[in-house]
Amino acid sequence: MAPRAHIAVYKSLYKSFGGFAADVVAAIDQAAQDGVDIISLSITPNRRPPGIATFFNPIDMALLSAVKAGIFVVQAAGNTGPSPKSISSFSPWIFTVGAAAHDRIYSNSIVLGNNVTITGVGLAPGTDNDGMYTLVSAIHALNDTSAGNDMYISECQDASNFNQDIVRGNLLICSYSIRFVLGLSTIKQALETAKSLSAAGVVFYMDPYVIGFQLNPIPMRIPGIVIPSPDDSKVLLQYYNSSLVKDETTKKVVKFGGVAYISGGIKANFSSSAPKIMYYSARGPDPEDSFLDTADILKPNIVAPGNYIWAAWSSLGTDSVEFQGENFAMMSGTSMAAPHIAGLAALIKQRFPLFTPSAIGSALSTTASLNDRNGGPIMAQRAYSNPDLNQSPATPFDMGSGFVNATGALDPGLIFDSSYDDYMSFLCGINGSSPVVFNYTGETCGNSTMNAIDLNLPSITISNLNQSTIVHRTVTNIGSNETYSVGWSAPYGASVKVTPTHFFVGNGEKQVLSVFLNATMNNTIASYGRIGLFGTQGHVVNIPLSVIVKISYNTTAG
Ligand SMILES: *[C@@H]1O[C@H](CO)[C@@H](O)[C@H](O)[C@H]1NC(C)=O
Ligand SMILES: *[C@@H]1O[C@H](CO)[C@@H](O)[C@H](O)[C@H]1NC(C)=O
Ligand SMILES: *[C@@H]1O[C@H](CO)[C@@H](O)[C@H](O)[C@H]1NC(C)=O
Ligand SMILES: *[C@@H]1O[C@H](CO)[C@@H](O)[C@H](O)[C@H]1NC(C)=O
Ligand SMILES: *[C@@H]1O[C@H](CO)[C@@H](O)[C@H](O)[C@H]1NC(C)=O
Ligand SMILES: *[C@@H]1O[C@H](CO)[C@@H](O)[C@H](O)[C@H]1NC(C)=O
Ligand SMILES: *[C@@H]1O[C@H](CO)[C@@H](O)[C@H](O)[C@H]1NC(C)=O
Ligand SMILES: *[C@@H]1O[C@H](CO)[C@@H](O)[C@H](O)[C@H]1NC(C)=O
Ligand SMILES: *[C@@H]1O[C@H](CO)[C@@H](O)[C@H](O)[C@H]1NC(C)=O
Ligand SMILES: *[C@@H]1O[C@H](CO)[C@@H](O)[C@H](O)[C@H]1NC(C)=O
Ligand SMILES: *[C@@H]1O[C@H](CO)[C@@H](O)[C@H](O)[C@H]1NC(C)=O
Ligand SMILES: *[C@@H]1O[C@H](CO)[C@@H](O)[C@H](O)[C@H]1NC(C)=O
Repeated sequence: MAPRAHIAVYKSLYKSFGGFAADVVAAIDQAAQDGVDIISLSITPNRRPPGIATFFNPIDMALLSAVKAGIFVVQAAGNTGPSPKSISSFSPWIFTVGAAAHDRIYSNSIVLGNNVTITGVGLAPGTDNDGMYTLVSAIHALNDTSAGNDMYISECQDASNFNQDIVRGNLLICSYSIRFVLGLSTIKQALETAKSLSAAGVVFYMDPYVIGFQLNPIPMRIPGIVIPSPDDSKVLLQYYNSSLVKDETTKKVVKFGGVAYISGGIKANFSSSAPKIMYYSARGPDPEDSFLDTADILKPNIVAPGNYIWAAWSSLGTDSVEFQGENFAMMSGTSMAAPHIAGLAALIKQRFPLFTPSAIGSALSTTASLNDRNGGPIMAQRAYSNPDLNQSPATPFDMGSGFVNATGALDPGLIFDSSYDDYMSFLCGINGSSPVVFNYTGETCGNSTMNAIDLNLPSITISNLNQSTIVHRTVTNIGSNETYSVGWSAPYGASVKVTPTHFFVGNGEKQVLSVFLNATMNNTIASYGRIGLFGTQGHVVNIPLSVIVKISYNTTAG
């Protein structure tokens, strides 16, 4: 994202168990002392912090101190989606990033002799010349049937269990079980087994108990495929089964009738339905406290590429057996999305060295894209199973302001700025917060308090619209003199007016916008609208609007 940016790395987590907030806080403080410009955390708490306000957790408090020191802080949204309020990054001074798919896909597939094609994953070469190869299940290729005392024999971890004469030149079928997820069995080892038995390739079917995790394409040096869907795995096994010829009396296989070829997944293919919000990307609204009240703060803030990302990897790393010895690994998650934003923030900081952290967040937010490559709305997956069949247009609680647009972010026109003092006023405005604020910051809450809705964010989120409200925002022109006109679409169940509807704003000058909302209909679910500022120099400033109407006048109509 940012060539020649310098990267400082602080270790605060450990293999397999994670780590403690105290270590993360120490790392954040050290980075701040070292003078970094940006902190990127692909780290979230593993549970929502208890207490009066979610924002008072040690990591968010440490990040607030970093923001006070002028550091832009980026955090992964968490991979706990797609249900509402699954977000694991909370505070308005933190820039929270969700994960979207980009357009590059590596599709691998196996074509069975009955012409059924099953798609799967695997960065593998295909079998030669589209010729058909005989399918042999590991359990039908045992060297010695007494080897059956290995319960996990079908995972193909030990070549000596198998008879090379049966496997040679054929496609070996192995099972992919929970043991692979735990690292007790590996694809690498199964491929070694297949290679030493001179198999033409390996087909992994999914054990039905392996659910709820994302399987990344894994590099394979011989033809291979993992069929990640249990249903598709059944299709393979039934075809294989029905093609076997067995001896009536001994029940031994006398003929393997099933054939197939693997098409291979090394060549990238490009999809036009991208970007798309991944099912696992954690969603808003932002939880205000452990009572599950909703904060008037938009989360996530933005989405960035996070699925199937080629990432630098240490060849000495031992965290993933599949990528051991590799210099790159393909990874997925909001952890992969956050650093994209950190890098773009570095570019913004380079162009605008005096930008505050909130100005950088504003530039990224107001310029984010709302459309996918087809020109339609960005879609959000809403289920783990069959995610592409369970999708609908993304809302601000799925994608924040939208999908990051680097070009736009480097020329935002207007910005919404907030200061450390604003965040302190917001914290002090939380009922009962002043002793906690004092404990964390050493500062006394004065009389100046503020509601979340009044923070000068590049979004408007109202979790409880009671009849009517007025919201103010202040924009600062960081570009040349420009005249803007204002347009909006109202959320369902509310009417909206913005004043002024046209304004001139000189370079360096500010303009206050007043947004009036009336509830027209009681509604317990969120509805969404948008405000757009359209400049004569071509700047477009996008402000997402999310509203839950709790109480409306029963007389007024929309
Ligand atoms: C599969 O398709 C090929 C070509 O399309 C055809 O020749 C063949 O008969 C089909 N086989 C089966 C089992 O349907
Ligand atoms: C069969 O198993 C024995 C030991 O169990 C092993 O030495 C031998 O190599 C195996 N044979 C084949 C063909 O894999
Ligand atoms: C395959 O057939 C055997 C009996 O021949 C049966 O026990 C097994 O459940 C079948 N498996 C599948 C996946 O159809
Ligand atoms: C590329 O993707 C399209 C649609 O996603 C699919 O129809 C096509 O078969 C794919 N091509 C390859 C080579 O995988
Ligand atoms: C990104 O922003 C630039 C500049 O505003 C615009 O020209 C371009 O169309 C945007 N790209 C997308 C994909 O929205
Ligand atoms: C603040 O909290 C206290 C105690 O929890 C409660 O009695 C009071 O009503 C609250 N005030 C407001 C304005 O919500
Ligand atoms: C403030 O910190 C002290 C000492 O760490 C602790 O005993 C007390 O409970 C804290 N008070 C609040 C309101 O968090
Ligand atoms: C808060 O307001 C009261 C009454 O208006 C005033 O007496 C007091 O000095 C103020 N405190 C601060 C810290 O501004
Ligand atoms: C809604 O506002 C009215 C007055 O404007 C107030 O009396 C009422 O308590 C409010 N309701 C809620 C649920 O906040
Ligand atoms: C809200 O309602 C008031 C009173 O009916 C009206 O004067 C005002 O124009 C309305 N505002 C919006 C945004 O609809
Ligand atoms: C920009 O606007 C200011 C007034 O806000 C004016 O003084 C200045 O001359 C304008 N600059 C240009 C280049 O038009
Ligand atoms: C909305 O709810 C309030 C309080 O429950 C009620 O007074 C009002 O009539 C309702 N409005 C509509 C349009 O149903």
